[in-house]
Amino acid sequence: MTAKHLRIDLQNGIQTLTISRPHALNALNQELLEELRAAMLEFYKNEEAHGMIITGEGEKSFVAGADIKEFSSINPGEAAAFARRGQDLFRMIEVSPKPVIAAVNGFALGGGCELAMACHLRIATQNAKFGQPEVTLGIIPGYGGTQRLTQLVGRGKALELMMTADLITAEEAKAIGLVNHVVATRQALIELSESIMKKILSNGRIAVANVIKSVNAGFSFEGAGYETEAESFGACVRTKDFREGTAAFVEKRKPKFTGE
Ligand code: COA
Repeated sequence: MTAKHLRIDLQNGIQTLTISRPHALNALNQELLEELRAAMLEFYKNEEAHGMIITGEGEKSFVAGADIKEFSSINPGEAAAFARRGQDLFRMIEVSPKPVIAAVNGFALGGGCELAMACHLRIATQNAKFGQPEVTLGIIPGYGGTQRLTQLVGRGKALELMMTADLITAEEAKAIGLVNHVVATRQALIELSESIMKKILSNGRIAVANVIKSVNAGFSFEGAGYETEAESFGACVRTKDFREGTAAFVEKRKPKFTGE
């Protein structure tokens, strides 16, 4: 497939998908999300692709979140559906029977952290930064972050990260279980991601698919968590705080929240 914001490369059964909107630190706009959806569908079907590595273009950013400039003008009535669409896409990654590794080369914030968490493993360069800073915009994570961060790091740490909006280093992320491995350079990141992927792919393919399926079965997508997240995201988009938070980002200033 051809894509404007993705580079897709297939070698030795490993499909590397590079997210590429460097002028916006690889932020996820709707066009990019649709391309990602098409790439996942293609990956599911492609019998020559046995595993996927998702990374970002450049050294600075994996994905700096959903595109704030784009979603600042979202219709409040459509906000919950906007979140559900992103949730569904990231769920496609999580339930892929073929392994997916996030190779995190810098900022993994908001939707970027959520994308990395939807992958089966996370490997990061030491300059990577993780966080869910949505409350600084007057919203909450809407692409499954409230659920997956809690699953990965536990309720207390997840609440702290989401309520303070603190960004943490790759080493801190590793210490709390958010990241599997930390490496020094971009090159080492790709090398380790490929070598772990090769190890996984040398094992029984059906067995690996069933490990993924069984682990996922313990974390229901059908329960109240994801739906509450989508509805709550929609409720936040109807607030003045959301308008102030996103306007402040665009105007490069600190937001003044009023709790309305
Ligand atoms: N959406 C849209 N544009 C974004 C973006 C996002 N999530 N993150 C960064 N960009 C854009 C910036 O607006 C800037 O564009 P400009 O050159 O037209 O002004 C460009 O990418 C470079 O970012 P900049 O902020 O200048 O880089 P920095 O090194 O000073 O800061 C970050 C990097 C990641 C700390 C900062 O960009 C940031 O806080 N981004 C938003 C993170 C976030 O809240 N994500 C969650 C969204 S739900």
